[in-house]
Amino acid sequence: MLLQRVKPLERLLAEGGDESKSHSLKKTLGAGSLTAMGIGAIIGTGIFVLTGVAAATRSGPSLTISFIVAGIVSAFAALCYSEVATRIPIAGSAYTFAYASVGELIAWIIGWDLVLEYALGAATVSIGWSGYFVAFMKNVFHVVVPDALQQSHWTVGAGGVITQTNGIFNLPAFCIILLIGALLYRGTRESALFNNIIVTVKVLIVLFFIALGFGHVNSGNWVPYFPFGVTGMLGGAAFIFFAYIGFDAVSTAAEETKNPQRDLPIGIIGSLAICTVLYIIVVAILTGMVPYKLLNVASPVAFAMDHVGMGWASAIISLGAIAGLTTVLLVMMYGQTRVFFAMSRDGLLPAVFSKVHPKFRTPGLSTVLFTIFIALIAAFTPIGIVGALTNMGTLVAFILVSIALPIIRKRYPQTTGFTVPFGPYLIPILSGVTAFGLIISLAFGSPLWFGIPSPWLGFIVWLALGLIVYFGYSRKHSTVGKEEGAA
Ligand code: ALA
Repeated sequence: MLLQRVKPLERLLAEGGDESKSHSLKKTLGAGSLTAMGIGAIIGTGIFVLTGVAAATRSGPSLTISFIVAGIVSAFAALCYSEVATRIPIAGSAYTFAYASVGELIAWIIGWDLVLEYALGAATVSIGWSGYFVAFMKNVFHVVVPDALQQSHWTVGAGGVITQTNGIFNLPAFCIILLIGALLYRGTRESALFNNIIVTVKVLIVLFFIALGFGHVNSGNWVPYFPFGVTGMLGGAAFIFFAYIGFDAVSTAAEETKNPQRDLPIGIIGSLAICTVLYIIVVAILTGMVPYKLLNVASPVAFAMDHVGMGWASAIISLGAIAGLTTVLLVMMYGQTRVFFAMSRDGLLPAVFSKVHPKFRTPGLSTVLFTIFIALIAAFTPIGIVGALTNMGTLVAFILVSIALPIIRKRYPQTTGFTVPFGPYLIPILSGVTAFGLIISLAFGSPLWFGIPSPWLGFIVWLALGLIVYFGYSRKHSTVGKEEGAA
């Protein structure tokens, strides 16, 4: 039956465990690298870029509460991800979990949906990267990137209104995606080392902002605290939820982890906890330094420093942001290729996506294809549109993972490792319900297309496309399906 076509866990583990096969990956990662990978994926465009828009158009100073709300939703999901990832430590993240529990169709939907999270997420981050890069070049080197080459032709303003810009093509965003794609093509080990170094720089920059900004908080800027009401605050939470995306990408590296039962929960929950604390402090300071109405700029954290007369600090923060956003791109693009790797190994996508490069042992051709796809989206799409659609895709994946958890626990009682507290239902239900709440709140501030908020409509269209591919190709080529047919 359609929904019942499940991939047996024993088979999943056998496929992932044998390093000598041409379709399996090297095991090189430990708890430290995974936590760094998580922080590398989490701190990025959300805090450095989207905070400004969210404060000015949705939350005002109550953005701090928005961050707490989105952090709670993410924490529930992180607990669920930790359990399923330790029970099923194979490449592919939520997709693999679903395949072993709720069945092939839902697994397909998740895998397809994760393209929204990772590929569009990477595009969003590269657009944020471009904003800091352009500002840095101008302020430090007095090199002005022409308007036509620094943004897409459209932008989303307050109230979800779409307007034209002088832009044509976002060249810096396009180039950084190509560069990261080249790094990933060469392999995980090198990329993880590079990641560890830049993550350190990124955390230092955040601490630097906190230390310097603290003395410039004017509590008058926190009044009124809820200028757009509680609805606005929730809309802000749904928008800056983007800032938390990434801890789940750690689970895509399960198959390359030395001791997944111990290391994956540390990587997922540890990285989320560290970032949540840093975020709440940064946002409280940011909204205290600058009146929220002024924050609708491309590089708000650097802008806050300029605003209080510390231009020198603004340049340092821009440089840190550029480095920090680079690691986010690395993890997101890495996650994308690994999800498609897993789907292709199962026959649900053409074999090119799971072909491993003979020398680098990475999914080489798949990396090249996705790099081009993401670079083109980054060059032509406004950040507000891709960012909201990324959130939408991620929240749907969270909901599906929370549904999968109790099913996995029941179906595979022999698996051990991290277990969510309070039984198999409470935390997954809280995770699913709160994620759904954020999906509803995404409508606030999004443009309406055919009367439907853009992230909802984008998701529906993407899902319909995915179903066409599934029933046109994947269902017939599925290796699990073929075996069932032969048996
Ligand atoms: N959380 C990541 C960021 O904010 C995706 O860039």
